[in-house]
Amino acid sequence: MSLEQGWPSWIAQDDAVTLTRHVGIDTVALAYLDPPFFVGLKFRARDKELGGDRAHGPVAYSDQWPSFDAYLDWLTERVEVVHRALAGTGSMWLHLDHRAVHDAKVRCDAIFGRERFLGEVIWVPGNGGRRKHGPPQTHQTLLVYTKGESYTWNADDPMLREPYAGTSQKMHFTHKGEDGRPYRERTINGKTYRYALDRGRALGSVWSDCPSMMGNTPLLSQATGYPTQKPEKLLTRIIRAQSNEGDLICDPFMGSGTTLVCAHALGRPFFGMDIGERSVTVTAARLMAAGATFGFTPQAPQERSTKLVTATSPPITTALTKATPKNPAERARTARRSGPAS
Ligand SMILES: C[S@@+](CC[C@H](N)C(=O)[O-])C[C@H]1O[C@@H](n2cnc3c(N)ncnc32)[C@H](O)[C@@H]1O
Repeated sequence: MSLEQGWPSWIAQDDAVTLTRHVGIDTVALAYLDPPFFVGLKFRARDKELGGDRAHGPVAYSDQWPSFDAYLDWLTERVEVVHRALAGTGSMWLHLDHRAVHDAKVRCDAIFGRERFLGEVIWVPGNGGRRKHGPPQTHQTLLVYTKGESYTWNADDPMLREPYAGTSQKMHFTHKGEDGRPYRERTINGKTYRYALDRGRALGSVWSDCPSMMGNTPLLSQATGYPTQKPEKLLTRIIRAQSNEGDLICDPFMGSGTTLVCAHALGRPFFGMDIGERSVTVTAARLMAAGATFGFTPQAPQERSTKLVTATSPPITTALTKATPKNPAERARTARRSGPAS
């Protein structure tokens, strides 16, 4: 059961800064944060009713800021709240890119303590800028922090392991155990370690096997048309790495709800929130299609009471503004006025 709402899982339309009002303090096992990255653009959704063209789709969220300092202070305030919401054994994954990750690392060190930085994962989405006048930017970074000294890390989860290289399999795994399983032994600093072939080796810190296309191409069923949607494989791996069944998973910038559908599929209760109306509509529809039952707290204070939503409930529709007119000439004018599309 959730602490406040009476259902194990729920979503809210609200600012991430209010997170502890929804989940309380010391409750969350794993928080995944995928905030705006300081890109300087408005991100548009693909909307089938408007032709499915992202360039002319409605704005899902804005990533424009008065200054970098304003952005960094905004982000810091929300990370502080996440830190309060985490259980003593909880962890946070903060997903950013080259624009802000280094400054954010310094802020996170101050909030969590430098010694609570567990490491970072480089995610290679398979797209990104190959610039003419500087190094390409084809990766994003996930900073991983724990709240306390002890935390969950499911090192043996198959999603955190990969097969040994073919040559290594042939060269090194020459022994067989009593059970017939091939293994190799290595002696490091006088201590001998045994590695089983079928257990595979631990995955490295560069993840290029979860392409963003899986979450974005309209050809695949997981794609919702929401901009910057992350692939389910990435979130499934993170959740399996750092939580166990029954642990509360939280996403304060839920977007299309990727974290929540993955948590649901893995038997974890979830809490997701987002300030945007489209995010709430898209996430609710996605969760309902996945058969999840969850509470929904709307934004308007007068309707603040949480409603129960099941797979057979009527769709949640927030007052989405279809700002883009259908007339092609008007559409082109609107696109020019709104600047570059995401
Ligand atoms: C990069 S997207 C998240 C995408 C998501 N991970 C997915 O897979 O679909 C960032 C989200 O942050 C939301 N957002 C921006 N400011 C927010 C705030 N103050 N509180 C909560 N959500 C916010 C945006 O509406 C947007 O949906």
